[in-house]
Amino acid sequence: MKKIIALGASSSKNSINKTLAIHVASKVADASITVLDLNDYKLPLYNVDAEEESGIPEAAHQFNNIIQSADGLVISLAEHNGTYTAVFKNLFDWLSRIDIKVWKDIPMFLLATSPGGQGGGTVLAAAKSGFPYMGGNIIVDFSLPSFYENFSNAGITNSELSSILNEKIGLFEHSLEQEEADIHQKL
Ligand SMILES: Cc1cc2nc3c(=O)[nH]c(=O)nc-3n(C[C@H](O)[C@H](O)[C@H](O)COP(=O)(O)O)c2cc1C
Repeated sequence: MKKIIALGASSSKNSINKTLAIHVASKVADASITVLDLNDYKLPLYNVDAEEESGIPEAAHQFNNIIQSADGLVISLAEHNGTYTAVFKNLFDWLSRIDIKVWKDIPMFLLATSPGGQGGGTVLAAAKSGFPYMGGNIIVDFSLPSFYENFSNAGITNSELSSILNEKIGLFEHSLEQEEADIHQKL
């Protein structure tokens, strides 16, 4: 069974991105899901002087270790003013001080959603161009526009968007299987 991490890159209690990440991760076959909540990783605002004086906080190491142990990452990005939420960017900065390959080449399903019609497309594009320089192995990505119109407890209500998402989940599953087969071959 593959170990999948689901993360909404937001600290909102009712994060729609956390909801979407959990929904997508739960559809991945033969996987156990660990849901990460950024509120459980309290970090001071990154500052070079703070790092020199006090080192890298334990919470950043804990987060890094959890990523390291995963077979797959399902991350949904919240968009604040066209970019990452401050809480996620701060975590990202701390993680990059532990290991520049923040995402460790682990197969990633990258998502974004927002209440608006662009569905977090701007932050998604930023991550798609930036993450590969930080060990990001983005297998598939998907933006869900107008979250409150297109999502209910049962999942995505728009049939066209739902079938696009399902197809991408299939590609993600295939890449996880491939990764497992490669590991077995190396052993
Ligand atoms: C400070 C701030 C800036 C925002 N900027 C954007 C934006 O640039 N694009 C967008 O689609 N939504 C924007 N929103 C709306 C968010 O997409 C919305 O709050 C969404 O619920 C955030 O995701 P979350 O629920 O996972 O935290 C913004 C919201 C806040 C509070």
